[in-house]
Amino acid sequence: MKLRSQMWFGRKGKDGFIYRAWMKNQGIPDDAFDGKPVVGICNTWSELTPCNAHFRELAESVKRGVIEAGGFPLEFPVMSLGETLIKPTAMLYRNLMSMSVEESIRANPIDGVVLLVGCDKTTPASVMGACSVNLPTIAVSGGAMLTGKYRGKDIGTSDVWRCAAEVSAGRMEQDDFREMEGAMCRSRGHCAVMGTASTMAGMIESLGITLPQNAAIPAPDARRKVLAQMSGRRIVEMIREDLKPSDFLTRELFENAIKINAAIGGSTNFMIHLMAIAGRLGIDLTLRDFDKLARDIPLLANLQPSGDYFMEDFYYAGGLPAVIKELLPYLHRNVITVNGRTVEENNKDAECYDRKVIASYEKPFQENAGIAVVYGNLCKDGAVIKPSAASPHLMKHRGQAVVFETIEDYHARINDPDLEVTENHILVLKNVGPKGYPGMPEVGNMQLPAKLLKKGIKDMVRISDGRMSGTAFGTTFLHVSPESAIGGVLALVEEGDWIEVDVENRSLNLDVSDEELERRKRNWKPLPPLTDRGYVKMFIDHVEQADKGMDLDFLKGGSGSQVTRDSH
Ligand code: FES
Repeated sequence: MKLRSQMWFGRKGKDGFIYRAWMKNQGIPDDAFDGKPVVGICNTWSELTPCNAHFRELAESVKRGVIEAGGFPLEFPVMSLGETLIKPTAMLYRNLMSMSVEESIRANPIDGVVLLVGCDKTTPASVMGACSVNLPTIAVSGGAMLTGKYRGKDIGTSDVWRCAAEVSAGRMEQDDFREMEGAMCRSRGHCAVMGTASTMAGMIESLGITLPQNAAIPAPDARRKVLAQMSGRRIVEMIREDLKPSDFLTRELFENAIKINAAIGGSTNFMIHLMAIAGRLGIDLTLRDFDKLARDIPLLANLQPSGDYFMEDFYYAGGLPAVIKELLPYLHRNVITVNGRTVEENNKDAECYDRKVIASYEKPFQENAGIAVVYGNLCKDGAVIKPSAASPHLMKHRGQAVVFETIEDYHARINDPDLEVTENHILVLKNVGPKGYPGMPEVGNMQLPAKLLKKGIKDMVRISDGRMSGTAFGTTFLHVSPESAIGGVLALVEEGDWIEVDVENRSLNLDVSDEELERRKRNWKPLPPLTDRGYVKMFIDHVEQADKGMDLDFLKGGSGSQVTRDSH
């Protein structure tokens, strides 16, 4: 077969000279250009993305595999998103990063690509971009950190939320909190709980775009390097087989991913990212698919934030293949994955080594673990809640709204001793949606008022058009669509309004008459946009709502690998 890279490196005359000569300044021998499959290693390494800071080393393992299989590896950087540092929120830049990945792959002499992904948004952004180009693609996650150890206890990212609340309540000293920092992030890798990064690593393994065991091998474990090396070997074969994402990433694998995510108690962010990836492949996924497909799936992984264990324990207990094996009767089993083998072939021999961490289908940790999608006059296009991270006694609740118009308003008043709030109230936060913030930050799990924390209250119903960190927990209704910034009913909620939530019946309603809502709507005015230039303006103008995956409308689908013009 004629390799795409030969359009550059196989040319005669001046053009071929230019394409090869400058590459040779890196000490590359002439025969590298003679028709070897060129593998782009799309590296999200950055010292500003600490979860991906070890990726230069991981890339070396991929290169070793590519060379062993007769390919020619070329590593290149793309935009990277460090969840903890990027302001105002990494989600604002997921789509920009996907453009960086898509255009970098298409524009260069690459026949296939290995995506090195880790911290939350780096995974969906990379996969979205690669799917829009549709060259042979395999992904490798960087792996989770080792479990944190602090004064004899296992700790992970979710303890940040718990302990911050303890500090606010006066039950933990600030100095002790500070000391925890070094104990929690004690090795390379991403967050060690079933937060968004681990959810994403599981998502891409479920989609079959990685080799088995991608989700859980710890970042410092030597087997992570072996996985990277094997992925390097495999991408060369995929180029020879011309196996592209569109050849195997079918609706069936997306449906599998939804069920597997429910079984591992994955983050609510999963829905937004999976819909965005599906959109790049022309697969129509809706919020209703998530509720319908995952409704009966039990929780099989006992992992923080809702459970007890960490990603390291998950790997030692058998990893994602042990969960998939339990689910095989309920999955599309005969669809192929990136290694050319079916879901069943990849997972049927997996074993569970610790039933405290991975349950059997017959004896799950919890029935019905999926993310629930609720509808009602407050969220015509849906809102989501993760029941496994919520309080059972609040799943059906009627309470009066305490309303915060913006996140700044929330910060200014939440700890005011005069704030009229009890544990039966419902905290409502507006203007943190895709366009309103912009970028839909992870603030939906608003910390409770200090005066209630001091009373020992641990949870309240909270409603917003924002997201929640996958490492967080609470009875939080998120992703309210349409969002308040575009005049969704959330924008019309007033202090003291009664709100009814009923997760069992999938409803979320504002107990205010249609006539009154009409009146409020006529008087409603949107907040002025925060900027009128640059990428952020483009994002505000084009981002879709949370129930559609928050991609930019013009990025849906793909442009393939064809370069539009070819002159020098
Ligand atoms: Fe990077 Fe959690 S901050 S994965």
